[in-house]
Amino acid sequence: MAVKVENNIFYLETQHTMYQIRADEYGTLLHLWYGAKTGENMEYLLDYPDVGFSGNPYEAGSCRTYSLNTLPLEYAAAGVGDYRISAVSVTHADGSTALDLKYLHHKITRGKYSIPGLPAVYADEKEAETLEITLKDTAKPIYVILKYGILEELDIITRSAVIFNEGTKPITINRAHSFSMDLPYGKWDWMHFYGRHAMEQQAERVGLLHGIQENGSTRGNSSHQHNPSMLLCEKGCTEASGFCIGALLMYSGCFQTQLELDQLDQTRVVMGIHPDTFSWQLKEGESFYTPEVILSCTTHGMEQLSWNFHRIIREHVCRGKYKLARRPVLINNWEATYFDFNEEKIWNIAKEASKLGVDMMVLDDGWFGKRESDTSGLGDWYVNERKLNGGLGKLAERINGLGMKFGLWFEPEMVSEDSNLYREHPDWALQIPGRAPVRSRGQLVLDLTRQEVRDYLYQSVSQVLDSANIEYVKWDMNRSISDWYSHALPDSRQKEMPHRYVLGLYELLERLTSAYPNILFEGCCGGGGRFDAGILYYCPQIWCSDDTDAYERTKIQYGTSFFYPISAVGSHVSAVPNHQTGRVTPLSARTVTAMAGSFGYELDLNQLSDKEKKEVAEDIRRFKQYAPLIHNGRYYRLSSPFQNNIAVWSFVSKDQTEVLVQGMIFFTEANRLRSIVRLRGLDRQKQYQLVETNFVCNGQALMEGGVLLPKAWGDYMPVELHFQEYTK
Ligand code: GLA
Repeated sequence: MAVKVENNIFYLETQHTMYQIRADEYGTLLHLWYGAKTGENMEYLLDYPDVGFSGNPYEAGSCRTYSLNTLPLEYAAAGVGDYRISAVSVTHADGSTALDLKYLHHKITRGKYSIPGLPAVYADEKEAETLEITLKDTAKPIYVILKYGILEELDIITRSAVIFNEGTKPITINRAHSFSMDLPYGKWDWMHFYGRHAMEQQAERVGLLHGIQENGSTRGNSSHQHNPSMLLCEKGCTEASGFCIGALLMYSGCFQTQLELDQLDQTRVVMGIHPDTFSWQLKEGESFYTPEVILSCTTHGMEQLSWNFHRIIREHVCRGKYKLARRPVLINNWEATYFDFNEEKIWNIAKEASKLGVDMMVLDDGWFGKRESDTSGLGDWYVNERKLNGGLGKLAERINGLGMKFGLWFEPEMVSEDSNLYREHPDWALQIPGRAPVRSRGQLVLDLTRQEVRDYLYQSVSQVLDSANIEYVKWDMNRSISDWYSHALPDSRQKEMPHRYVLGLYELLERLTSAYPNILFEGCCGGGGRFDAGILYYCPQIWCSDDTDAYERTKIQYGTSFFYPISAVGSHVSAVPNHQTGRVTPLSARTVTAMAGSFGYELDLNQLSDKEKKEVAEDIRRFKQYAPLIHNGRYYRLSSPFQNNIAVWSFVSKDQTEVLVQGMIFFTEANRLRSIVRLRGLDRQKQYQLVETNFVCNGQALMEGGVLLPKAWGDYMPVELHFQEYTK
C-alpha cells in the first residue's frame, strides 16, 4: 500500500520518497514532509513560535503559538490569517472572502483518478493509488477535495483539487491553484525555464529572495516566455547528487508559478491557473476541477529527477500507437519553400528524401484556402487548387508510392480576416464588442469555447484527413491570445474565457485524436510556445523551437530535457546559413543536435552536394540504429551549454551495455588541450569499447577519468562517441 494513515497522519510512500500530511487537532491540514523516506512521523520537526502579528484561530483559545501564518499548510486558503500566497481564494454570495478549510474525511482507492475535461496522468490499479482528502469550510457549505495520485514505482505524486459548492447560491472562485507546498526547512534555489519565440527553455537557477517571486503566462497558451515547470534544488544540488523537487503543471493555458520566502525563512510554492486571467462562477451543486500537477523528488540530483519525469511522460501521459514507438524520420518543406510551392516541388523534395531513407514527407503551411502568405486563408481547410491541382489525395498517393508516409500542417484555432470562414462567421473570432482586436501575425483566434466552432473545426479537419492517406498532423498555434470575449457567455462570466478556451481545445484534441488513432499528432506553437504536459497527453511530440540553428538548439534542448523526454522533442536538420541566425554550422553538428529528439529534416535535400547526400543517408541509417537507445535509454546532461564551451550529453542503455555520447564543441582555440568529459551511469566493472576502434576502457575509468573529446578544428564541431560493452 502506498498510502498509510496512522493517528491522522497520511504517509504517501513511493519507492524512494515520502510525502506526509497531518490533520491536526483543529482539523487543519498540515504539510509535514516531502523528501527521502524516513520511516518516521516527521511532525517532530514542527516548531510553534509565538510570532508577533501572526494571528491565532479563535478555537485555539489563548494559545498564541498556533498560527496559520507560520505553520506549513497543505492547501493554503485565503482570508483566515495566513498572509502568505494562497492556493485558493473565493468570494461568497455575501461578498466575504474567507475560506477556513478543515479536514472532514478521506478515501483511499487503487488506481489513479482522472479529471473530467482535463488531461491527467493515467495508471491502472497495479501501478497507482489515489488518496482523496475532503476539506470543508467552517462557515459555508463549500468543500475542497484534494486528490493525490501515488505512482509508487516511479517516485511520482500527482495533485489536483476540486472545489464543490453545496450551498444554494453561487460563489466566485478567484484563485484555484493545483497545489501549494510549504517547506519550512532547507535553503532553496529555484530553477526555471524562460525564453522567447525561437529561444525557448533557457535554464536559470537563482536563490530565493524574501518576498514573492513568480513567473507564468497570461497569453492563453503556456508560452515561449516561461514553461509551466520548476525545480527547487537544495543549495549544492548538482546533476548527480543532492536533493531536489520538481513540479510540472499539466496545463496548456495561462498559468502561474509563485514562490514565497517568508518572514521565518520558510518557502511556499503554488502553481496552477493564472489568477489574473481567471475567475469562475460556481453555482449550487457544481464542482470546479483544477489541472493536475506532477511532483517528484530525489536525493540523487537533477538527472534522476529528469528520468522520473521522462518516464512518467512517456509511460503515463503520452498515449496512442506512437507513445513508445520510434517516430518516423520526417522531412518538412517549411524552411525549404515557405509558401512558395506546388505539387512538383513537394514531390521533388520527397523523392530525394526517400532515396536517402526519410520515412515521411510533411507538407507545412500554405496548402489550403487562399493561403499565399501569412495574411490570408486560415480557417478555410480545403485544398488550394492553384498549388495542388490534383488535390491532397493524389499527392499523398504519389508520396506513398515512394514508400513514404504523408503528413500535413494545420492551425485550427486561428482565422484570417481574409478567409471565407471569417466572412461567414466574423463573430467566431475573439473580439470585444466596440474594440478593434489585436492582430498577431495578421491573424485572429477562434472562440474555442463555442461548441459550433469546435464542431466546424472537427468536421473540416476530419474531411481533409478522410480525403487522403494522412498519417501525421502538425497542430500549430501561431499567436498569443488577447481580446477575451465570447458571444456565447454572459458578460459577468467573460473572465472564465481563458480557462474555457483550454477546455475547448482539449475537447477538440480528444475528439480528433480518438477518431484518428493511427495518425501521429505533433504539437506546435511557433515552435515551443505550448510545450507542456497537457499537449503531450494528445500529441506525443512537439516541435521544440522555430530556431533550427544547431548551436542555439543545444541550449533550448538542454533546458527542455529537465522535464520532457527526448522522444517528445521535434528536432530537425536545416540548411545553412541558418534562417533564424545566419550562422553556418557543419552538417554533422546539425545532425547530432537533431538526433537528440524525434529526428527529421527541414530543407530541400536536392540542394545538397553528392557528398552531403551520402552523409545524410548514413546519418539516417545511424539514427535508426541509435533510436531505441536515444529514446529508451537514460539521458545525461554531461556539460551545460550555458556554462561551458561544449554541450555534451549521453544516452545509456538500461542494461548499461551501450553508451552514445553526442554534442558539440562550440568555439575552437589554438594550442589547447583537448576537453575531457566524465561519463555517468556506466557499470564501473564493465569494459567498454569505442565502436570501430581498438580503444577499450573500464566503466570506472570512463566515469572517474572521463573521455577525451576530439580535437576541435573549426567552430561547432560535433562530438559522437559510441561505446559498447567489450567482452573477449
Ligand atoms: C510556425 C511553426 C513553423 C511553421 C510555420 C508555418 O512558426 O513553428 O514550423 O509551421 O508556423 O507558418
